[in-house]
Amino acid sequence: MTDQQEQQAEGHRLGVVGAGVMGTNISALALGHGVDVTLVDVDEEILTSARRTIRHKLKHAQLMGALPADRPRGTLTTTTSTADLAGSTTVIEAVVEIDEVKRKVLGEISAAVAPGTLLISNTSCIPVDEMAGWVARGDELVGVHFMNPSYLIKMVEVIRGTATSEATMAAVRALLDTLGREALVINDAPGFVINRLLHPLINRAAMLVQEGVATAETVDGLLEGCLGHSTGPLRTADLIGIDNLVDSLRVLHERTGDPECDPCELMLQKVRDGHHGRKTGRGFYNYHSATERHTR
Ligand code: NAI
Repeated sequence: MTDQQEQQAEGHRLGVVGAGVMGTNISALALGHGVDVTLVDVDEEILTSARRTIRHKLKHAQLMGALPADRPRGTLTTTTSTADLAGSTTVIEAVVEIDEVKRKVLGEISAAVAPGTLLISNTSCIPVDEMAGWVARGDELVGVHFMNPSYLIKMVEVIRGTATSEATMAAVRALLDTLGREALVINDAPGFVINRLLHPLINRAAMLVQEGVATAETVDGLLEGCLGHSTGPLRTADLIGIDNLVDSLRVLHERTGDPECDPCELMLQKVRDGHHGRKTGRGFYNYHSATERHTR
């Protein structure tokens, strides 16, 4: 690592709120690139499990050669208090995709940090312009849609809101550079580009299984084998989390009226049954080992 890279990593103090699938992904990515992380969630049990998950993810990232070999790891601090984010240079919100929860959490983050702190939402579908009204300084908010797993997929979708300032865009570019990510910037819209395309596809794939047209394996096998998709839509659903997908589809359906975004009965049933995908060991597929659940 060059002196400049080391200084860049040292310059960031990252807060991450939400220690689920994406909060642990983003934390592992940042720690692996030498950035110190303060990770916030609602209780100690979740944070203990998150520390274990982050260790798994860091190991996986290292095995895959996805981390700079010569950069010392950042330090992880976990807490249940957003007040502990006070000294952060950037805070990334990665809580559940539910308006009221995001509104409350973004308000708390905004009250805890100093002006000039970069605020990022990792939302899947809620427009950045709506969230800008939930924080004190909407010009400091930007959407960054990190992919899952964040430490393996280099590209991120950056969503510039109407109020997002040039200074905020420069700050987010500097952070993504330190994290070794590439960015494509888009304008704001529900679901942005990726999920406006991906979520209805997953919903439709689940509907085909529900209608008995094909099994999950066959749907995925056809998209992988015939269309060259690296991961079929239902394997992707398990990776994302079916609970999160249902919440995100509802956000999209409410805002676009697109009937393809109305979550199908099979996905709703899986959520009711607690079969959320990899994170619970069962979704469209079964996952037997902890490693299978935590890695791709
Ligand atoms: P998750 O359900 O795995 O984790 C959410 C976490 O937020 C949970 O640990 C929960 O305890 C925590 N949380 C809830 N209320 C909180 C509060 N008031 N304060 C602090 N923490 C709180 O969800 P996941 O999948 O990590 O998604 C997080 C965000 O990232 C969502 O907006 C989702 O749409 C987005 N996203 C998800 C992707 C995925 O593949 N799962 C990919 C890209 C974005």
